[in-house]
Amino acid sequence: MPRHIAIVMDGNGRWARKRLMPRVAGHKRGLETVRRVVQLCVERGVPNLTLFAFSSENWRRPADEVSFLMQLFLRALHDEIRRLHKNGIRLRVIGDKSRFDAALLAAIEEAERTTASNTQLTLTIAANYGGRWDILNAVSEMLAAHPDRREGFSEEDLAAHLSLHDLPEPDLFIRTGGEQRVSNFLLWQLAYTEFYFTDCLWPEFDDAAFDKAIASFRSRERRFGRTSEQLGGA
Ligand code: IPE
Ligand code: IPE
Ligand code: MG
Repeated sequence: MPRHIAIVMDGNGRWARKRLMPRVAGHKRGLETVRRVVQLCVERGVPNLTLFAFSSENWRRPADEVSFLMQLFLRALHDEIRRLHKNGIRLRVIGDKSRFDAALLAAIEEAERTTASNTQLTLTIAANYGGRWDILNAVSEMLAAHPDRREGFSEEDLAAHLSLHDLPEPDLFIRTGGEQRVSNFLLWQLAYTEFYFTDCLWPEFDDAAFDKAIASFRSRERRFGRTSEQLGGA
């Protein structure tokens, strides 16, 4: 089983448009998939799940869609936190929070504090997140932490300041919705992640689709630069 799955939840808008509904109806429906996938990770024994909910580029969308997404996020934090806590799930939010309003910041803070000591699953929501932002932020923090360093820095020095510094790097990256791109998700952390793309739109990503992604992951040989022979493979 992957120890960490990272998902770009894409295709909500197209799911809605296909049904002649407004795009935001797709986001609402997508939240149901989030609930199910969180549950599946608990059931299948995946200890870390990171979901891309809103990219630093998604501010470019129409203002009413952006504000709907922010409200949906706030409401979901309120509605879900008790159930998450009951199921032993630790919730965290990564991304540049400086553009969030006070109500959302307070809800994030409370959700993180309430669930901080849970160990069943670490659920990380990437909101106003960008991989380049994450790296740049880590570089700034690293330089501030070692103002007098002369001898240069290691990968570990930098990684210690990234958003997911205390989690294993993702084993499996899933993107729904048919596009085959990273869209500025976890750039540093995906260096050796297995990629899985599916045409399935996020609101339609069900148990079978999830298990298919896991099965694909399990069929891969992860060599990390070595040869197959070194791994005792074929
Ligand atoms: C992903 O679905 C959700 C967010 C980016 C917030 P989209 O809204 O990108 O759906 P499509 O890609 O337009 O179908
Ligand atoms: C990526 O989806 C971001 C999220 C799923 C939150 P987009 O729909 O924004 O990505 P692009 O614009 O198609 O690359
Ligand atoms: Mg999209």
